[in-house]
Amino acid sequence: MPDYTIRVRRYDPESGQAAYWQDFTVDLAPERSVLDAILRARWDQDGSIGIRCSCQAAICGSCGVRINGKSSLACNTKLGEALERAEKYGFDRIVVEPMGNMPVIKDLIVDMDAVHWKKVQRVVPWLLPEGDPPEREYIVPPESMIDITQSMACIHCGACVSACLSMEVDPEFVGPAALAKAYRFVGDPRDAHHEDRLLDLAEDPHGIYDCTHCFACVEVCPKDVAPMNQIMRLRRRATGDYEIKDANAGYGHEKAFVNLIEKYGTLHESQLLPRSYGEGSLIKSQIKPGSVAKLIPQTGTVVNGLKSGKVSPIKALIHHKLPDQKQVRRIFKEIESKDERIELNLYIVGEEAEDEEQGTMAEGGQES
Ligand code: SF4
Ligand code: SF4
Ligand code: FES
Repeated sequence: MPDYTIRVRRYDPESGQAAYWQDFTVDLAPERSVLDAILRARWDQDGSIGIRCSCQAAICGSCGVRINGKSSLACNTKLGEALERAEKYGFDRIVVEPMGNMPVIKDLIVDMDAVHWKKVQRVVPWLLPEGDPPEREYIVPPESMIDITQSMACIHCGACVSACLSMEVDPEFVGPAALAKAYRFVGDPRDAHHEDRLLDLAEDPHGIYDCTHCFACVEVCPKDVAPMNQIMRLRRRATGDYEIKDANAGYGHEKAFVNLIEKYGTLHESQLLPRSYGEGSLIKSQIKPGSVAKLIPQTGTVVNGLKSGKVSPIKALIHHKLPDQKQVRRIFKEIESKDERIELNLYIVGEEAEDEEQGTMAEGGQES
């Protein structure tokens, strides 16, 4: 059996010593997990290694760590694959660290209560129905439950929290896991406070508009919850269904973005900021009471834009349309002609589509 060396970040805040790296070599098959390697090292070499785990089957969510820099479940990462990834980046051993964005309690154990669970509590993670409960169970349409299945799949491992770049910059950001949890209730027809929940998360400067669409949470989630997608769905509900015009100009920013793409095909950066404060319109941004006042604190953004070349007096006046702009308009018209917003939950629909495709191939013998 091959030897694998894991390099573990050791840290005990109570010891007063700085963090340090320690290598352990274990003799395990490549299919065994990184968690197996850590536990083997703890049994055979150093009983003081701190690691949290329970199910060892990617179900309980307790063994989240960073492996070669990527937030992952230690029990769900094979040693062979982890080493291959390390070698790709020029390392000859597997590097294991505690998750990011959360304080370390000891070695690989982070304080989930201080960050992750606190943020989950922030979104009121229980149903708030109104009126008397039914005599028997609540009956809900199956489609609405399918809609929230993806967010319900979360095992609260904290990998997305660990990887979130916005949270690194703004530790107050509600964050991917808690916002995915919020969608679980906003999408549930039994809950009677959808609008209040959305208003609350839209008005919060660390709420739904604090995500920068970096995709890191989507990439690391072991359960395909795709937290960023759930955040986008919260935004769509807030703007599309409830027209929530929030203090953070999230509503206006979305409208401005869409209007500019419809008009030019590409983003007219110089107009994005003023339009965002004018609910998507350049004229409104100049005449709407309060818009100009809101724009003044954004002067720093304009200066940064000028420095980076994204904004210039010429660019502010002239922005070329895409040569094939008509095609973009055609897509807009097609979408606007729909009576209702069609939102596919790819978590479920993707599988059905695959099954259907396989069925078609099996029946017809060729791809349709
Ligand atoms: S997409 Fe948004 S929520 Fe997800 S990691 Fe990036 S900033 Fe955080
Ligand atoms: S959304 Fe995914 S990565 Fe985030 S806590 Fe839930 S299961 Fe873990
Ligand atoms: S030990 Fe339960 S998810 Fe890894």
